[in-house]
Amino acid sequence: MTARSSEGPAESPAEGPAEGQAENPAESQAENPAEGSAGRERSGPRRRLSDELAENMKRGWADTERHDIRPLPQAAHTARRRAALSARFPGERLVVPAGNLKVRANDTHYPFRASSEYVHLTGDQTEDGVLVLEPGAEGGHRATIHLLPRSDRDNGEFWLTARGELWNGRRNSLTENERLLGLPALDVRTLAATLAEATGPVRVLRGHDAGIEEALRDKATAETDEELRVFLSEARRVKDDFEIGELRHACAATARGFEDVVRVLDRAEATSERYIEGTFFLRARVEGNDVGYGTIAAAGPHATTLHWVRNDGDVRPGDLLLLDAGVETRTLYTADVTRTLPVSGTFTPLQRKVYDAVYEAQEAGIAAVKPGAVFRDFHDAAQRVLAGKLVEWGLVEGPVERVLELGLQRRWTLHGTGHMLGLDVHDCDRARAEAYVDGALEPGVVLTVEPGLYFQPDDLSVPEEYRGIGVRIEDDLLVTEDGNENLSAALPRRSDEVEAWMARLKT
Ligand code: GLY
Ligand code: MN
Ligand code: MN
Repeated sequence: MTARSSEGPAESPAEGPAEGQAENPAESQAENPAEGSAGRERSGPRRRLSDELAENMKRGWADTERHDIRPLPQAAHTARRRAALSARFPGERLVVPAGNLKVRANDTHYPFRASSEYVHLTGDQTEDGVLVLEPGAEGGHRATIHLLPRSDRDNGEFWLTARGELWNGRRNSLTENERLLGLPALDVRTLAATLAEATGPVRVLRGHDAGIEEALRDKATAETDEELRVFLSEARRVKDDFEIGELRHACAATARGFEDVVRVLDRAEATSERYIEGTFFLRARVEGNDVGYGTIAAAGPHATTLHWVRNDGDVRPGDLLLLDAGVETRTLYTADVTRTLPVSGTFTPLQRKVYDAVYEAQEAGIAAVKPGAVFRDFHDAAQRVLAGKLVEWGLVEGPVERVLELGLQRRWTLHGTGHMLGLDVHDCDRARAEAYVDGALEPGVVLTVEPGLYFQPDDLSVPEEYRGIGVRIEDDLLVTEDGNENLSAALPRRSDEVEAWMARLKT
């Protein structure tokens, strides 16, 4: 149900309950005609709002202020992250927005997902939220969070506006948010005007809140803002205990989602890849917040399309199913796991040959994930194994050194062997090369190791029997003091273990 189907007219959600609007929206809307601004008839009947009803709606509501709020479990971590941010940019005002709702049509919106930078620094996930670090006269910064307060009952905003709590659910009061987040909380509706008048150097995280950026248009520069983004990206490189716990939870829930899929493979055969996507999604929504990225449910030759998210193909016995999916936790940390499964439960000899090669490459990659190693080492280790297999199978002319030197294996390996993982599936994406691909691994880094081999259906350079086979195996690795821990190890990887696991689940 949407706000516009109500008897009471709804305001534009974009405007929100702005200060200075009519003191009594009930009255101001009372004479609205029965037709919309474009002259079309609205979906529901509109009746004049009587003064009696407007008055009636103001009264008879309980005080629901909560006094039992405890700080978020990650509050100590977010405070430490803000302190690091403060130390990096002394004397500058720093503005990190969560982002706004994006309209899908009229008064419906796409699901909201707060910016990862904002979540990392606050633990909050609310639309329109903004974190501000205000430089202090004595050095350091004072951090404040700016949020929508509770809906006003006196002016009818709670039930007559599209952002009212009656439509969207109860919000925390500012006082509750202060306790929850460990930050002074202020009304976000006055922030843009305050920022527009403020003086002194300022940086804003761009791309999330056009209103805030507009307020800072003549004050912030793209170049200095980018330095803020890079810093915030690199700050997420080493995960703390809270984050590692969340990533463990994401991987455990993801493993259960993969098990769900194996149990319904016969039903997926009767429908399509969509059944697999939907099955995994159910697990993601029940145990987590969402999927961390669009599920890739790629059966048969679709497995050779790296980001196959259309998921509208058939699932046939005899095919391989490449399932790349991750549960995002309620705190927004995601897993990113791939298994390539024989739909029938048993690999054909050629499927097994390709699968085992990818498995061997992944083993070599995982062995190269340890403190002191450079990020790109595990990629090189996996590529070397795959190049060797391609030479051995006569698909490319050796020796292996020549193949690697010229990168010839990449026709079939296609992508990098992994990436950082955390709040974003491709986490720390703005980090500089020296902090990422050329940087040394250290305990607390979490990354994927995901080699693959993909023989396109139209690749005339390989024998016909290879065409249409795509295999990727992807796991989520935590770098530890003495090597690594595979956070997604609950899902078997070796071909015989995959078959045994599938047989167990299907009985
Ligand atoms: N699921 C996207 C990736 O593996 O990077
Ligand atoms: Mn990945
Ligand atoms: Mn993936």
